[in-house]
Amino acid sequence: MTTAPLPELPGMPTARPAGHPFDPPEELAGVRPLARIPLADRTPGWLVTGFAAARAVTSDPRFSTRSELQRLVLPRFGMPDRMPPAPPGMFLQADPPEHTRYRRLLTGRFTVRRMRLLTERVERTVADHLDAMERAGGPADLVTAYAQPVPALVICEILGVPAEDHARFNGAARTFNDPAATAEETDRAWQELYAYLRDLVAAKRSAPTDDILSELTDSDLTEEELVNVATLLLAAGLDTTANMIALGTFALLLHPDQLAVMRDEPAAVDKGVEELMRYLSIPHTGQRAALEDVELEGHTIKEGDTVAVSLAAANRDPERFPDPDRLDLRRDAPGHLSFGHGVHQCLGQQLARVEMRAAFPALLRRLPDLRLAVPPEEVPLRSEADIYGVEALPVTWGPEGGG
Ligand code: HEM
Repeated sequence: MTTAPLPELPGMPTARPAGHPFDPPEELAGVRPLARIPLADRTPGWLVTGFAAARAVTSDPRFSTRSELQRLVLPRFGMPDRMPPAPPGMFLQADPPEHTRYRRLLTGRFTVRRMRLLTERVERTVADHLDAMERAGGPADLVTAYAQPVPALVICEILGVPAEDHARFNGAARTFNDPAATAEETDRAWQELYAYLRDLVAAKRSAPTDDILSELTDSDLTEEELVNVATLLLAAGLDTTANMIALGTFALLLHPDQLAVMRDEPAAVDKGVEELMRYLSIPHTGQRAALEDVELEGHTIKEGDTVAVSLAAANRDPERFPDPDRLDLRRDAPGHLSFGHGVHQCLGQQLARVEMRAAFPALLRRLPDLRLAVPPEEVPLRSEADIYGVEALPVTWGPEGGG
């Protein structure tokens, strides 16, 4: 293959440009479609930044998601540079055919049709939280008042987690995604969640209720697999949707013309949510390991090499999305990569869509003069976390506001 040199970055960039919190790190713009980066242990790795190359890697069975085959892309305090194999049931880190077995069991439970049936329940949850915000009055932190509790309640309800235990999952999910958390803290959060879910699965087995966990007790999954599947669903469904709602609201507040589209044009909501997903690309990176030598964009990725995929860079590739740095809610551009691509494409995407399609317009209609309560540059960003977003979003509303 060609030996044309590739651009080299000093590491995987995660910080968004100063004053442009919604754009990918600046370093990524000039290095499409492929670059070299040092991994967390300083061995050489690959970084995919082009849209076509990102789709090629994520849909190619010669690339594996198994954790024990990869090196960490981003340094994580206290974590080993090589990870142990994921336990059975953590199917994001499993390759076909094991992966296929889990997806077959679950896909039918997360279809567009089944998730649409939930719309009314999601809308009620959204309205309840807006009622509470209005009652308390501004200013408020949109993250803790709205963006986190809505998806938490919804996923807990689908899985059959009793209401009184919901708060525990917000805490656990924050720890998993907190890059400042120590290895012990992360480990403890996983163990607590695991122990709780083991008891819950046992309870569903003896007294099934109307939820996904109860349905899965009827499958051929072992106890360990079932608990890990439940853990994955909770962990994957909480922080992602919460960050999209909070960061999406921040983006709309800084783009008032687009905010008006989301608020006033019901026919534009579905497309608008996809555009926010594309524009914001909250998962910083996905990663894979090559199972054999693979040629990509004129270069040979060697068996065993770790490949990071920047979804943010791919979603701003001008070859796929004209004028990619413009937020345009009326844009007709399906096929963004923010839910991933290939066999691991997000299982919960229809659920996330139902939640976002309810959450954004309801918030903006209920509080039409919603505004930031601090200058935009003071909004704390989650630049280092696996899932990008805001730590807090101080907002206010009403004539006097308070912000
Ligand atoms: C997989 C993003 C919401 C469950 C993924 C992947 C991405 C993603 C990028 C693929 C990762 C990879 O290929 O390496 C998002 C975003 C969300 C969201 C941006 C919200 C806006 C949810 C929800 C659930 C969920 C609500 C809850 C059920 C999963 C699961 C996988 C996954 C189980 C693993 C799928 C597999 O390996 O087959 N998600 N997700 N996600 N997501 Fe989501």
